[in-house]
Amino acid sequence: MTSSCLPPPRKAPCAPNAGPPPEGRHPTTVASLLFIVTALLAFAACGESSQPQAARDTAPQPAAPAELNQTARQGETVFNTHCAQCHGPEASGTNLGPTLIDRIYHPGHHGDAAFHLAVLRGVRQHHWNFGNMLPVPGVSETQVNQIICYVRHLQRTHNIYTPAEYQPTC
Ligand code: HEC
Repeated sequence: MTSSCLPPPRKAPCAPNAGPPPEGRHPTTVASLLFIVTALLAFAACGESSQPQAARDTAPQPAAPAELNQTARQGETVFNTHCAQCHGPEASGTNLGPTLIDRIYHPGHHGDAAFHLAVLRGVRQHHWNFGNMLPVPGVSETQVNQIICYVRHLQRTHNIYTPAEYQPTC
């Protein structure tokens, strides 16, 4: 049980997203559980994205990809329905919530598990002055992974992180 992608395409960035665990605010057990869940979902997402899409989706991407892949497009739709009223169009922020295109949300600082936690549990105000984020019901784990794909794509195009620092799982 080593490689996570079923049909190993050339060099699919399917390694479970092994960023550092979320900061110590959450109990370790929950954090590691969510980590496993995230890894599993990343695994699922790999399966999805290795469907016969354009070849560029499976190739290493030296430059920021201009277009959203299929998973990211799905994420955009979910994001616009459930998150954009606070986090803004293209996660650019509103007066109700912060932009997610900020170094604060660099994958090394807020790993993908932070998204799952935010949606499941909500977020206590701690970085900004917008107040707390309430849990967002009705968004599945798969959809959160799609959102992560979308937001990481946006972050990448804004040079929040480099490919050496993080490889999106989709
Ligand atoms: C009602 C407004 C609101 C909605 C809707 C909302 N958020 Fe938030 N979110 C916030 C605020 C405010 C914060 C910042 C809290 C702070 O750090 O001060 C935040 C923070 C976050 C964070 C950072 C978590 C952390 O650990 O610091 C993530 C990730 C996030 N939101 C994702 C989402 C996603 C994904 C959705 C949609 C499924 C969503 N949010 C919907 C208001 C909202």
